[in-house]
Amino acid sequence: MRHLMSPLDFTVEELNNLFDLANDIEFNLDKYKNACTGKILATCFYEPSTRTRLSFESAMLQMGGNVIGFSDAGSSSASKGESVADTIRMISCYAHICAMRHHKEGAPMVASGKSSIPVINAGDGGHQHPTQTLTDLLTIRSLKGRLNNFTVGLCGDLKFGRTVHSLIHALERYTGMKFIFISPEELKVPDYITDSLKSKNIPYEEVIRLDDVIPQLDFLYMTRVQKERFFNEEDYVRLKDFYVLDKEKMKNAKADMLVLHPLPRVNEIAVDVDDDPRATYFKQVQYGVYVRMALILTLLKTVRRDEEC
Ligand code: CP
Repeated sequence: MRHLMSPLDFTVEELNNLFDLANDIEFNLDKYKNACTGKILATCFYEPSTRTRLSFESAMLQMGGNVIGFSDAGSSSASKGESVADTIRMISCYAHICAMRHHKEGAPMVASGKSSIPVINAGDGGHQHPTQTLTDLLTIRSLKGRLNNFTVGLCGDLKFGRTVHSLIHALERYTGMKFIFISPEELKVPDYITDSLKSKNIPYEEVIRLDDVIPQLDFLYMTRVQKERFFNEEDYVRLKDFYVLDKEKMKNAKADMLVLHPLPRVNEIAVDVDDDPRATYFKQVQYGVYVRMALILTLLKTVRRDEEC
């Protein structure tokens, strides 16, 4: 039985198979409408979410499965002090697969160690967000036809943005990548990420001004400043509007540069960019459903009957 804690849990070949399946689902949705009949997905969200939780639920429902879960730790027995280790033992008896989001780094990993059903990390603190990365990779592969030879700009809160950390790790495995990290000094990408790039001789630059580098980029991954991870409001207020991608800035970008964003957006992309054909963030949302359908199918296949609760 397999879990998904990090995008690196799948080999590049396994990811290719997953994306092939997601593209097949995209074009032959009807073929999959009963693929999960009799199966139950539990969504255990201890932190707020719109896209991740609802796209998992939509994915399961579109395949004929059912969904149970909670969207707020306060409405679960976590509010009475129950541990995730105990909770997942219960969930294992109620569902066949679980997507878990938690404010604590590593909580889904702890759950997976006690689970008898596949557990998917749906975001753990400022650490990883592997299914967002699967969404991002599927979007890029589907729209560009490849996952190698890109100059990638990542802009905004690179310190606390878990989607950024997962995406860099995933893209490191493809050839011909160059990373340009665009952030204020206080929100630079963590050292463990740059150490990993150095150890693999993968080129990267760290810059503050988006205008200086935007003409070089094949895609630009914008992120919001992660208010919920800040220790004080004053720092957040000072940094929250550091970057605003607008029509004027887009004039200097390549004609085929993709603008990606995991969403939610706050102010970092002006709404006047939404109509630009290079704005890809709402398309990403749709790819997020296809890839989560493919992931549910793939992980359910890894469960042996004698492992089921
Ligand atoms: N991208 C993403 O994780 O969005 P939600 O927080 O709404 O799930």
